[in-house]
Amino acid sequence: MTVTTEVVLAAEGLTKHFPVRKRGRELLSRTNHVVHAVDDVDLVLRRGWVTALVGESGSGKSTVARLLAQLYPRTSGDIRLHGESAAVSTARGGRRFREYSRKVQMIFQDPFASLNPVHTVRYHLTRALRIHGRAGKGKQELHSALAELLGRVQLTPAESYLDKYPHELSGGQRQRVAIARALAADPEALLADEPVSMLDVSIRLGVLNLLRNLKERLNLAILYITHDIASARYFADDTLVMYAGRMVEGGDSETVTQHPAHPYTRLLVDSAPDPDRITGSAQGLVQEEGVGEPPSLITPPDGCRFHPRCPFVMDKCRTALPPRFDVGDTETHWAACWLFEEAKA
Ligand SMILES: Nc1ncnc2c1ncn2[C@@H]1O[C@H](COP(=O)(O)OP(=O)(O)O)[C@@H](O)[C@H]1O
Ligand SMILES: [Mg+2]
Repeated sequence: MTVTTEVVLAAEGLTKHFPVRKRGRELLSRTNHVVHAVDDVDLVLRRGWVTALVGESGSGKSTVARLLAQLYPRTSGDIRLHGESAAVSTARGGRRFREYSRKVQMIFQDPFASLNPVHTVRYHLTRALRIHGRAGKGKQELHSALAELLGRVQLTPAESYLDKYPHELSGGQRQRVAIARALAADPEALLADEPVSMLDVSIRLGVLNLLRNLKERLNLAILYITHDIASARYFADDTLVMYAGRMVEGGDSETVTQHPAHPYTRLLVDSAPDPDRITGSAQGLVQEEGVGEPPSLITPPDGCRFHPRCPFVMDKCRTALPPRFDVGDTETHWAACWLFEEAKA
């Protein structure tokens, strides 16, 4: 299957190194250490398409989202919205930055933290509509804009929710309000950073179904960040797997989750509790099985960053960084792993 839907947001060679603060004797040394949080990441988000970004905690997923939202300046690489480069030092508050951040909205893991406890739902949504010039003229138009937003996230009738404070809502309802607030900007891309991982297992599916429904009705490009590869299979069209700051595998979700190629993805899939249920973290299990922990990102391993944990490690893996190789089963499936060097032939 060839993907033809329009690319909304594209990143190329996206890199973020955080400086490490020096302590004690290090202050005298000349070397400046950095955390290699994200290295050379390429990805595209397409209209009406969910792309999952999967990886353990600390692998750099949130940093990718924050770079795409331009909440952080990047160390290097390019971000293009509809082909137009977003300047590295976009002046925050400038017109271009405002236009960009209207089109690319973020949804965070913890809706409690992202909503202000002293303000009502009405306040949060009205403010977002006003900022983006979509509050209409007069009370009547504002009210219908508010009702439409709450309708989109299935909080109806609007009157039952508008005057509630965050603490009067359930976790799922709070996340729906956070999604409605993002929609107030009339965005083209949503960056959802673990949007259901703080919610009760029983209501996760409802929120994911809502996001899928919005993707279809509003033709949104969605980045779905998760540490739960089972939910990527269920929810995302494409899946990208990240390990220690680098992308290691990508392709359509069904293939990546059912026929994982990279040894790290295989480990993730094998340790996911139950492929048909959207449950907790694969991360704990990966570590329990004694296959080691992710490497230091201050001095990441040479070659493939997964090589110290890899059951198939070859000499080459210790020194040479593997590029993307076609796996050969589907058109879009690739793995950054030397095991697939010959698969192309
Ligand atoms: N603001 C920051 N300053 C320094 N290091 C950071 C900062 N944000 C993230 N990191 C580091 O970057 C790495 C990736 O973090 P993050 O993107 O939050 O991963 P994930 O979302 O996959 O858990 C981690 O080692 C983390 O400690
Ligand atoms: Mg994160």
